[in-house]
Amino acid sequence: MLSQKTIDIVKSTAPVLEVTGTEITTRFYKMLFDAHPELLNIFNHANQQQGRQQTALANTVYAAAQNIDKLEALLPAVKNIAHKHRSLGVKAEHYPIVGEFLLKAIKDVLKEDATDEILQAWGEAYGVIANVFISVENDMYNEAETKEGGWEDFKEFTIIKKVEESALITSFYLQPKDQSIVSSYLPGQYISIRVQIPGQEYTLNRQYSLSSAYTPEWYRISVKREAEHDPKGQVSTYLHDKIDVGDSLEVSAPAGDFYCDVNEPTPIALISGGVGVTPMYSMLASIADKNAARPVTFIHAARNKEVHAFAEEVTENMSKLENGKSYVVYEQDDANSELTGYLNADKLEKMIDQNSVCYVCGPVAFMESVIQSLVKIGIPTERINYEFFGPSLAIETK
Ligand code: HEM
Repeated sequence: MLSQKTIDIVKSTAPVLEVTGTEITTRFYKMLFDAHPELLNIFNHANQQQGRQQTALANTVYAAAQNIDKLEALLPAVKNIAHKHRSLGVKAEHYPIVGEFLLKAIKDVLKEDATDEILQAWGEAYGVIANVFISVENDMYNEAETKEGGWEDFKEFTIIKKVEESALITSFYLQPKDQSIVSSYLPGQYISIRVQIPGQEYTLNRQYSLSSAYTPEWYRISVKREAEHDPKGQVSTYLHDKIDVGDSLEVSAPAGDFYCDVNEPTPIALISGGVGVTPMYSMLASIADKNAARPVTFIHAARNKEVHAFAEEVTENMSKLENGKSYVVYEQDDANSELTGYLNADKLEKMIDQNSVCYVCGPVAFMESVIQSLVKIGIPTERINYEFFGPSLAIETK
């Protein structure tokens, strides 16, 4: 339990963190990796380079400080991060290391303003916040391991099939090397892939949504080829160009809190842009398998026909549904469709049942625009679920 004095100090200094938050976390990461370069095997270097991770951590620490006396308000956000931590192999023993360097960074940036009393209070508060994460993550590790077909950390999988889905997206079918079944997942969840690229000092990890309905024999991911010179593209380029049938990859068990409840009867709208189709397709296929009576609207926006993935599979699943509607919106010239251009409120209003629960996934600009359009056509925000690919930049505490 934190004393009232500690709570008061942490809450009163939290606004200072808001101003200097990213400066502190940038400094923190530099010192952390200088002292513990082995942690570079876990962190995504591309996110680091873009400063996205620093912002995400800063936002969380700030939000946690504001809520230090009612941390339960943060639980949904903690769970979201804990899923990511668990899927990357973050363990209880890492927390004191992070705590040590976070305090050192606060001291470095705030200088004489960081009195011993303030540092002591933040040290205690960090301990409380860390314990919440550790406890949630322990439960997640236990669940991942004890589930049928489950495992705790990373496990070796073999590529049994590689399929080009579009000019940019290729699917990889992954089977456990030990021939065991794979643990089940909820449609929308992701796995982490860990690769050691020849010539690279550290392993690289990436999260990919599972892109099919669950089947016990394999997982499928569908990877978009990113630009090779972009640090974000290192793993996708490696997978596309170097990984083939018979090769192995390390995989951690499914994770994530962006998923739909397949068995609900309410109408559902699945809206995707580009490679954001992967979790949406998994939801569609799972509903078509298990709850074909559910009204489903599947809306996919792609730049053009060449980069449009899963067209045939979507049609196949539509035919299994009793009440399914599917729309494709090409951004560029499509003489055959009046839908050509951006997906806007006018188009969405004609496609979506007002009572739908909506799931949105795609590039950030696409998501922002679709979410605004959904709100504009009267869909309440609590019925709009979305997932950004990459670190969440904002954290909801209300
Ligand atoms: C990701 C917060 C402790 C490793 C994240 C994210 C946040 C966060 C907000 C971004 C989640 C997202 O992608 O949306 C925190 C907080 C911590 C903490 C508040 C302490 C209380 C740790 C520890 C480690 C760690 C101890 C391990 C050394 C990571 C990694 C990622 C991550 C590897 C993924 C980032 C990437 O993409 O590179 N964390 N974290 N975190 N965290 Fe933590």
